[in-house]
Amino acid sequence: MIKDIIKLAPLALIALVACGGGNSGGSLSAEDRFVDSVVNSMTLQQKIGQLNQVTAGSVEDMEKLAAQGMMGSILNESNLDNLHRIQKAAVENPPHIPVLISRDVIHGYKTIFPIPLGQAASFDPELVRNGSRISAVEAASDGIKWTFSPMLDIARDPRWGRIAEGYGEDPFLTSIMGAAAVKGYQGDDLSDPTSIAACAKHFVGYGAATGGRDYNSTYIPMRLLRNVYLPPFRAAAQAGCATYMSSFNDNDGVPSTGNKLILTDILRNEWGFKGFVVSDWFSVGEMINHGFAADMKDAAQKAITAGLDMDMVANAYKDYLEALVSEGKVPESQVTNACKNIVRIKYRLGLFQNHYPTVSQEVKYAPEHLEAALHTAEQSAVMLKNNGALPLKNAKKILLCGPLADAPHDQLGTWVFDGEKSHTVTPLTALKQAGYDVNYVPALTYSRDNNTSKFADAARAAKSADVVIFVGGEESILSGEAHCLSNLNLQGAQSALLETLHKAGKPVICVIMAGRPLTITDDIKNCDAILYMFHPGTMGGNALVNLVSGKVSPSGKLPASFPKNAGQIPVYYNQNNTGRPASGHEILLDNIPAEAGQTSLGCTSYMLDTGFGPLYPFGYGLSYTTFDFSDFAINKTEFAGENDEIKISFSVKNTGEYDGAEVAQIYVRDMVASITRPIKELKGFKKVFLQKGEQQNVEISVPLSALKFYGLDDKEILEKGAFEVWVATSSANEDIKWKTKIEVK
Ligand code: BGC
Repeated sequence: MIKDIIKLAPLALIALVACGGGNSGGSLSAEDRFVDSVVNSMTLQQKIGQLNQVTAGSVEDMEKLAAQGMMGSILNESNLDNLHRIQKAAVENPPHIPVLISRDVIHGYKTIFPIPLGQAASFDPELVRNGSRISAVEAASDGIKWTFSPMLDIARDPRWGRIAEGYGEDPFLTSIMGAAAVKGYQGDDLSDPTSIAACAKHFVGYGAATGGRDYNSTYIPMRLLRNVYLPPFRAAAQAGCATYMSSFNDNDGVPSTGNKLILTDILRNEWGFKGFVVSDWFSVGEMINHGFAADMKDAAQKAITAGLDMDMVANAYKDYLEALVSEGKVPESQVTNACKNIVRIKYRLGLFQNHYPTVSQEVKYAPEHLEAALHTAEQSAVMLKNNGALPLKNAKKILLCGPLADAPHDQLGTWVFDGEKSHTVTPLTALKQAGYDVNYVPALTYSRDNNTSKFADAARAAKSADVVIFVGGEESILSGEAHCLSNLNLQGAQSALLETLHKAGKPVICVIMAGRPLTITDDIKNCDAILYMFHPGTMGGNALVNLVSGKVSPSGKLPASFPKNAGQIPVYYNQNNTGRPASGHEILLDNIPAEAGQTSLGCTSYMLDTGFGPLYPFGYGLSYTTFDFSDFAINKTEFAGENDEIKISFSVKNTGEYDGAEVAQIYVRDMVASITRPIKELKGFKKVFLQKGEQQNVEISVPLSALKFYGLDDKEILEKGAFEVWVATSSANEDIKWKTKIEVK
């Protein structure tokens, strides 16, 4: 009977169940009643169909699959007529359930925002939320109702190309930014036509791939998983994230797609997740390569048993689940539950009422979207060095040089399917539009270019310019999925070009657009100022102009430590102290005499050639202006119970010559615990915007629950004892502004 109602009028069914008319009745919510009504009347085959996600193929084939009820979701199809035909076939045939249209909308749909790593550098979650909202509005206007974003993988290894797609190395920053992205995509109400479902990926540990090689095995012990890799995913669940994606990696021998501990025990049973989990691309089938499943049927059994609801493109569920159920290897209830999880999200998305793509051209590249992308790019730029060359003061003649100075495709960054380079504003265009006298001599045509034949022209041009702006870094294709590198120096002949430009004797402003921290150690001396813009997106050129001109003061802070060289990796700030912590006064390579006798040298944990610390620390970034911190206070020094709260207040004054923003960062150290704890952990931050001369009182709260950690018996505990808490402008000790001790009783 229910089936007939859906067939005739899905709306009628919604009204019926909403007022208690569904067949389950009782104390169930309208949503539960609806989901039960729909799924309980489906055949096993129809339920399996919902668990199947397909990629675009011939429209006839897709239409057929949808009409057979064998397509729960589709990805990579963007032709609107095709989507309409597919949706029509799905809703007009049993079981009359709309197809969920999905796409990788990672840092913008048409209007491209900085890559997520760049967005993290803004230290401004509101920008991330707003950018994701805009992405949702634009994507939904082409019928997309589900994005595979945000990526919440903690990345401590910049060789891993996918570091570009996440929010860096820190669990707290990633949790805050990830939750903001989820809220942006999903809006206040998932059923709003402009909302799209978010997907927290890749669940879990994918960023810890051995040696930074994509897809590689991870070896994350349970406590580290709990304390570092899982928190952003938990924050996403708390933010109401509709879906999760299982990751490609096998952690300590168990591929995530077949890992019941994470997909069911933790995600559903501990965190109460009610949405659905999709596999990564063919990752059900890849369990065969892992040597974890004998064949596709075995893989299907392992995945569904672990709690994986939807199979992305492997067809394992479609081809084998029915047999597995009839052979008694998989209980039908498992399939029913997975189907309910998927139908629930479709219900929440309002798909049963509005299933056809609603198309609107006006919202794409809307002026306010471009404005937001510009603002985000400005806030994401991190100034790493400035000897006074920035902002440009009396520079009239600019030599613009380097492979990314006019690279409309590459400045957009990785994972851009829909943003068009014709809309990109490059540095060349923007500088000219701003009225600068620009001499453009790229000297290198793309980032890997080794052809130095134009260097002499560039050197000559530099001599007759007031200032040189070099824009280099990485092409977009050098980071992202499967684009890992073992050498993170500037590619091609870029370093040599910087040296040539420096020798010309004019100030060299080095602007880097890249998908990851690059090892620019040897380039620093050739630059008077360094502005790290990551891949800044559509409005990168305008952002650059506003930054170098001084209209906007740089305020980004590094979301990941920058290594001195690739051999120093991993070098992340929140490490443990070790039994032999580095003192900072270690003997380095140059200080070791020839024929030195056997010695343990500094006897601490460091490298002879790079020392201990990174090139630039997590949380670091300069400004054109200066800030004074004063009047520090803490609400008390003894705390008890996880509902207690640490409140730190202080005053910040802009004492320099420019308007600007500083990111006040709160770090905590648990001095003695039942397991060794990191020497510092970010637990709070606030970006404070101050006009020249302005002063503001700031309060940052850290709930005591933030001091909890997973201890010896895999239980989250708040341990009594001493903690240090401090306010800083980066994770480096030199940037500590105030430090105090507290006691948890
Ligand atoms: C990636 C995912 C992505 C999926 C769908 C996979 O290769 O790992 O991040 O969402 O493809 O395109």
